[in-house]
Amino acid sequence: MKIRKAVIPAAGLGTRVLPATKAMPKEMLTIVDKPAIQYIVEEAVKSGITDILIITNRGKDVIEDHFDRCPELEASLLNGNKTDAYNQVTNIAGLANIFFIRQRETKGLGHAISRAKSFVGDEPFAVLYGDDVIIGEDPACGQLMRAYEEYGKGVLGIKAVAPEDIHKYSSLKVDNLHDNIYNCTDMIEKPDDAHVLSLFSILGRCVLPPEIFDILEHTAPGVGGEIQLTDAMKDLATTTGMTAVDFTGKRYDMGNKLGIMEAAVEVALQHPEIGSDFKDYLKELSKTL
Ligand code: UTP
Repeated sequence: MKIRKAVIPAAGLGTRVLPATKAMPKEMLTIVDKPAIQYIVEEAVKSGITDILIITNRGKDVIEDHFDRCPELEASLLNGNKTDAYNQVTNIAGLANIFFIRQRETKGLGHAISRAKSFVGDEPFAVLYGDDVIIGEDPACGQLMRAYEEYGKGVLGIKAVAPEDIHKYSSLKVDNLHDNIYNCTDMIEKPDDAHVLSLFSILGRCVLPPEIFDILEHTAPGVGGEIQLTDAMKDLATTTGMTAVDFTGKRYDMGNKLGIMEAAVEVALQHPEIGSDFKDYLKELSKTL
């Protein structure tokens, strides 16, 4: 079945980026001139997704406003003949059919995904984590969707992480199928040294079959007392197996300060308007470092 729906969980508390995220959702933190979540929605749309559910919570209404029309601003831009800005602003509202639901209580990523059950229905769907921006020629979500079409199983977007970091992420048991595609038969969230399965971790993207909702209903709170999506996906991996794609593209973790700065610098260097001036600035600055 062709995948046309995506879910973007954006209801986390963002405690690693306080105080910026006290009143501003981390998904709305800017990379040069667009909020992180717009890059993510654009990636989903480029991958062929038409319907997107964004899971929010209290205080995240600005995300809804960002994807809505803004008649006063649009009229002012038109009156001022600012056609480029007008087009940019109106295009955002037309990117996809975007829906919103609140998680109500921050009980973990697995719990957030379970809120998507009626939106998803009986179809496979993509999940794009709201704080993971991936920039690349071939959209990461689309790479996973192709693997779903090839193997018919849930798909995980994976990358190798440094040995000293694996305890902060999930760790997967994988066997190579071909090129950058793997079969995944087990996983663990935030393993201690004795339980590391490999340095491959799920980073920011997956494609899930609708069976995940029944599994989530029975998933007990795991690490940190949260209902972990990894624990539910482990059920799929150990029974039907899952496919894993070591996706191409650079991932930026907008949930931590260094990730935010890396995204800003690297996207600014490629930016058509400011890229070349910013490069000159960085070259000068680097002489003083
Ligand atoms: P994180 O664990 O990075 O989010 O979840 P967090 O809780 O905001 O992070 P810190 O540790 O407090 O800084 C990964 C993704 O899952 C979403 C987050 O918004 C993020 O996109 N999430 C997490 C939810 O939607 N609900 C939750 O209950 C937890």
